[in-house]
Amino acid sequence: MVLASGTGSLLQSLVAAAVDDYPARIVAVGVDRDCDAALHARAAGIADFRVALREHADRAAWDHALTEAVDAHAPDLIVSAGFMKILGPEFLARFGGRIVNTHPALLPSFPGAHAVPDALAYGVKVTGSTVHLVDAGVDTGPVLAQEAVPVLDDDDEASLHERIKTVERRLLVEVLAAVATRGVISDGRKAVIPK
Ligand code: GRF
Repeated sequence: MVLASGTGSLLQSLVAAAVDDYPARIVAVGVDRDCDAALHARAAGIADFRVALREHADRAAWDHALTEAVDAHAPDLIVSAGFMKILGPEFLARFGGRIVNTHPALLPSFPGAHAVPDALAYGVKVTGSTVHLVDAGVDTGPVLAQEAVPVLDDDDEASLHERIKTVERRLLVEVLAAVATRGVISDGRKAVIPK
């Protein structure tokens, strides 16, 4: 099960990977707004649904609706692939430990929705991609995998984000295959995918 909000290029890499002997399939794609990710799902023949915050009375009602919509597909794993909303307490209570997020920075540096411009503004020479389990904090959950990406002198947000996303697309596919095959052991702080 994949959650997305944006252009859906990470989703597309998962769609392309999840064939033949890849150990997972995408049962559905959930979005919180009209976006290209939903169009990619439809083009691939994958069920999609939208649960928009503004169509609910408050965050708790949205959290409940999203939880029910996802649960209807009985996913083993939930992948937040560019889903730009913080998941709520009901969702975490139902699916905690089975939600994987990808973040375009080397956590714990530059958490939040502005990781790429924040890294550029700070002037770091190396940033990267982090794939991690989702907990109740913002990009604070146990790290599953990280890979560094150089920041070039003439980078702008678009060029740096695209270099990071090229890594994210591959790393996410690799990590999900490992998790789907071997599971995750986590004490809530550290996470290990058994060999
Ligand atoms: C990725 O960089 C992801 O880490 C971030 O949003 C981006 C999603 O890209 N949270 P796309 O919509 O899949 O192209």
